[in-house]
Amino acid sequence: MARSKIALIGAGQIGGTLALLAGLKELGDIVLFDVMEGVPQGKALDIAEASPVEGFDANLSGAQNYAAIEGADVVIVTAGVPRKPGMSRDDLLTINLKVMEQVGAGIAKYAPDAFVICITNPLDAMVWALQKSCGLPRNKVVGMAGVLDSSRFRHFLAAEFNVSVEDVTAFVLGGHGDTMVPSVRYSTVAGIPLPDLIKMGWTTEARLAEIVQRTRDGGAEIVNLLKTGSAFYAPAASAIAMAESYLKDKKRVVPCAAHLDGEYGVNDLYVGVPVVIGAKGVERIVEIALDKEERAGFEKSVNAVKGLVDACKAIAPSLA
Ligand code: APR
Repeated sequence: MARSKIALIGAGQIGGTLALLAGLKELGDIVLFDVMEGVPQGKALDIAEASPVEGFDANLSGAQNYAAIEGADVVIVTAGVPRKPGMSRDDLLTINLKVMEQVGAGIAKYAPDAFVICITNPLDAMVWALQKSCGLPRNKVVGMAGVLDSSRFRHFLAAEFNVSVEDVTAFVLGGHGDTMVPSVRYSTVAGIPLPDLIKMGWTTEARLAEIVQRTRDGGAEIVNLLKTGSAFYAPAASAIAMAESYLKDKKRVVPCAAHLDGEYGVNDLYVGVPVVIGAKGVERIVEIALDKEERAGFEKSVNAVKGLVDACKAIAPSLA
């Protein structure tokens, strides 16, 4: 069987890490695309030169033209610019919306059958714009946020309980960042829900509240430490898990920014919810009954996403 093809649009910090991880996991051949001449080619060659040591087989290449992504099975998008000091939200949206339009046109022309994962921020609005721009089916275009948020939550919980990260599951809903809604009652250690662990004396409500807040601020904590950029290892690992679930039809149940069409009472918006990812893309949206607090958090999150999407529609009316 021919190898799968993975196209990475954006060969910056996350793009380079995506290429390395996709290589190490032998997910397929890898094309890095970027507007910066030489950068995707250089990263592709550097990783290819690591492949004999690591023992993986993959063709790696870099490109400045969209024809290179032709026939890609998976496209992961990190292209865009970060928000810089002095830049307003709308300045950032204006620039990254243009990028999504270009990327969307490239995908529509050369990779219309791909599973597309968007990482570019502000995530919930950019994945909406990317789907509108490329016109691919909505179940084939998703945003990566929840896997990262829940991975951060799992890491903090595992450290708190001094147990393996593998035995901690975490459930998050809502938008990426400040408005995410970590669900304490659906997060567990080996199946034991967190409220039970409080009763068992493993932790306290106050400690859990601190961990939830640290998870919400997870992105900012890394930015404050790095000073010149944002997180890239964990975001890349999270998107690779989604790509792997699609390519291997694993049907993993993971939180993603998915297009909602009535689910959770939301229409035509991308919001973070648990989904099943398999060979058909988003195969199912898992709709749980929210309790009062979760519903309030979720609605706040939906309103924040709606505000961003409305701003996008004002900037680029053709997408509306
Ligand atoms: N087409 C292709 N690539 C582009 C375009 C474009 N129109 N515009 C910018 N790029 C490229 C840049 O040249 C850069 O190499 O996108 C890359 C972005 O990489 P970084 O700046 O290193 O950003 P990274 O840390 O990888 O994050 C990418 O993911 O988490 C989000 O907020 C983050 O939106 C950001 C994105």
